[in-house]
Amino acid sequence: MRLLVTGGAGFIGANFVHLVCSDHPDTTVTVLDSLTYAGNRQSLQPVLNKIDFVHGDIADLDLVDELVSGVDAVVHFAAESHNDNSLADPWPFLQTNIVGTYSLLQAVRRYNVRYHHISTDEVYGDLELGDPDRFTEYTPYNPSSPYSATKASSDMLVRAWTRSFGVQATISNCSNNYGPYQHVEKFIPRQITNVIDGQRPRLYGAGHNVRDWIHVEDHNRAVWEILQRGRIGQTYLIGADGELDNKTVVGMILEEFGRSADDFDFVTDRAGHDLRYAIDSTLLRTELGWTPRFESFRDGLRQTIQWYRDNESWWRPHKAVTERGYAEKGEQAI
Ligand code: NAD
Ligand code: TYD
Repeated sequence: MRLLVTGGAGFIGANFVHLVCSDHPDTTVTVLDSLTYAGNRQSLQPVLNKIDFVHGDIADLDLVDELVSGVDAVVHFAAESHNDNSLADPWPFLQTNIVGTYSLLQAVRRYNVRYHHISTDEVYGDLELGDPDRFTEYTPYNPSSPYSATKASSDMLVRAWTRSFGVQATISNCSNNYGPYQHVEKFIPRQITNVIDGQRPRLYGAGHNVRDWIHVEDHNRAVWEILQRGRIGQTYLIGADGELDNKTVVGMILEEFGRSADDFDFVTDRAGHDLRYAIDSTLLRTELGWTPRFESFRDGLRQTIQWYRDNESWWRPHKAVTERGYAEKGEQAI
């Protein structure tokens, strides 16, 4: 199979390319990535001799048309992906997440190419802390932030192109990922690298917000299964029953470094901060037989911490500028 992977220099996309190159070496991979602040060619270093890398924008209709004409399937990871940035400046999120998805959909429609769309559970809004319900494939969309609103919009475009134009598409909405190659702006790598730097982790609000953590390799194995055997037109939720509140996660990171679990600062809360995400992944498990391999979050976290310790040259160039960005957005200890 000839595969076009968009956003392959980002966190989840790079891990996906590594997985395909190691487990499915008969697949030909082309990566299309515009190398925004979040894209890093270094993340593909170990596989660069096995793939084609194209530096370009998914909203470039001519480039996308040309690349899609030569493949059997597209897996679309590329996005502006950080909620805090979307609150400070929504426009790049509309351009990449909505217009970029439109550009890909027009090309896969033209060449009848299989398309898998990577999305997020954040399109469903949030849940109360004690709510026994979790998100399913049939939960109504109710996005809170400009980021999640643009991801919801892109999902809707995929549904429309599937129904109206017969595009051969599937969608997956996954919960929060952690693992190697995640940008230091995101919660877990930000706190790990703060602790490595002797700084205190920074918790938004009261630290009660709950996220449903999944290791990036488990996410990507599910994506591969959906690409191979998913039903066209179907949405699959991907989650590993990993609900934890942010304070607990920070405490675990601190403990792994031998520091006290309460050695953190509370800082300004995020505007519109979603309280809780939780995924019911029964459909994926029963229909495609997927189960997560990372059964213990603590083990996955320990491995991730070790990766950041071993790969300081990968994240160090981005750390100071990222922290400066948070300060400029007005983040303060409370
Ligand atoms: P990321 O920010 O780490 O990587 C995004 C990549 O897309 C970067 O390499 C960037 O250079 C590239 N990109 C951005 N705009 C582009 C454009 N216009 N043209 C070409 N390339 C462009 O993001 P991530 O965390 O790896 O997320 C990947 C996908 O997974 C996104 O669609 C995101 O919505 C979704 N997702 C992420 C999570 C999570 O926890 N990170 C959870 C569920 C779903
Ligand atoms: P994040 O990694 O930005 O992912 P998302 O917004 O997609 O869930 O944040 C995860 C959680 O951690 C979220 O509840 C916000 C919180 N958070 C902090 O408490 N401190 C931080 O420094 C960051 C970046 C996030």
